[in-house]
Amino acid sequence: MPQSLTVIPSARRLMESLRDIGYELPAAVADLVDNSLDAEATQVDITIAFKGTRSWLRIADNGRGMTAARLNEAMRYGTERDYAEAELGKFGLGMKTASLSQCRQLTVATRTNPDRREIEVRRWDIDRVKETDTWELARLSTQECRPHHIAPLQDHAGTVVVWELLDRVLAYRLPDGVAAEHGLTSLAREVEEHLAMVFHRFLSGQARRSLPLTITINGNPVPAWDPFARDEPQTCRLDRRTLNLHHEGRSHTITVQPYILPNQTQFSTTRAWEAASGPRKWNRQQGFYIYREDRMIQSGGWNRLRTLDEHTKLARIAVDIPRAVDTAFEINVSKMRVIIPAELREPLKAIASTVANRAQAVYRQRDGQHPRRGSRPTPPVPPPPGRRPAPPPVDSEPPRPAGTDRLSSNGDRGAEPAPPPYPGMC
Ligand SMILES: Nc1ncnc2c1ncn2[C@@H]1O[C@H](COP(=O)(O)OP(=O)(O)O)[C@@H](O)[C@H]1O
Ligand SMILES: [Mg+2]
Repeated sequence: MPQSLTVIPSARRLMESLRDIGYELPAAVADLVDNSLDAEATQVDITIAFKGTRSWLRIADNGRGMTAARLNEAMRYGTERDYAEAELGKFGLGMKTASLSQCRQLTVATRTNPDRREIEVRRWDIDRVKETDTWELARLSTQECRPHHIAPLQDHAGTVVVWELLDRVLAYRLPDGVAAEHGLTSLAREVEEHLAMVFHRFLSGQARRSLPLTITINGNPVPAWDPFARDEPQTCRLDRRTLNLHHEGRSHTITVQPYILPNQTQFSTTRAWEAASGPRKWNRQQGFYIYREDRMIQSGGWNRLRTLDEHTKLARIAVDIPRAVDTAFEINVSKMRVIIPAELREPLKAIASTVANRAQAVYRQRDGQHPRRGSRPTPPVPPPPGRRPAPPPVDSEPPRPAGTDRLSSNGDRGAEPAPPPYPGMC
């Protein structure tokens, strides 16, 4: 047996470098909401307080809270714990890395007992860790806290996460200035749009968990944003498919539910059309919406199976994956990247191609109905005089013999491809 030694990582270097793991503010906040959901919270209140260099951001929930021992473990990089099937946590890193990617001081206060006001508080302070180069976690008494650290826990159990010294959020030359204040306001809007999107199933009561969820930002409830505009009468819901994925010796079911949204003239109102465009707007919101245990982890994009194209922007496809296939999808700590496993690439490409063809036909309709199953779409709208004709659709998939696969694209590469017979309600 070779001899071994224990080499402890440098707290200072590791904590600093993990700040750059790739979080943006909205995704960082969403990661903390994941924790609240795992703790069975029904209410998550986010407060963004502008106070110049003393600005803070707080995420307070009414979940089950943590005991002192659990809180100590929770503050550790690489928390040890077992996860239940439907939980959103994974690496034991999110709370620390998401928080400290945005701020230099993370304070967590928690209360488990609904009847007794016993509050445990811990703090990571990057500057302190830099000074000492040790994993020294501060334990604060409630007397040492400022009111905003513990105020939400006065009447019920739950957890409060406070970010202070927001150096990454307020990266302004004058952090007390008007530009910084406006910057924070527009960031708050981005956070809202992101949460409305990634948690829309929870917010609208469509997630499998039975508990309701309300999220507020500075007191205003965050409404759910449905990427599939399912309350629009002309949204077309195609048939649901299931695909098998073999991973770690087991077969897992991946569910695929395509939608084709109405075109601009078919939407009930201009406002509804604009709302449906989403945080990244129509073109970039086409593609796959990947959900892990009902939480959206990808919002549009074709994962290199197609390219984004104006003509196919009405195609949006929900893909549901169970947490057991996390590693097959290479989900990373910030949950901001998903890789489609090789086994699913061809079948998803075939589905995407068919749905995109159909979306193109809807895009070209002036008004009225979606094309019926098997019917040919209306002729394309001619370009206005003086404008170049629209470029051909981008679709790298080679034509397949008709009839070999209900999901295959129809082999007609002519000027006007007919949508293949993908069944569904339109
Ligand atoms: N809001 C919360 N309520 C209760 N427990 C929490 C909360 N946030 C974090 N925790 C605990 O802290 C642990 C570490 O969280 P985190 O660093 O995000 O990693 P992960 O969620 O991947 O386990 C969680 O597993 C959970 O036990
Ligand atoms: Mg987490």
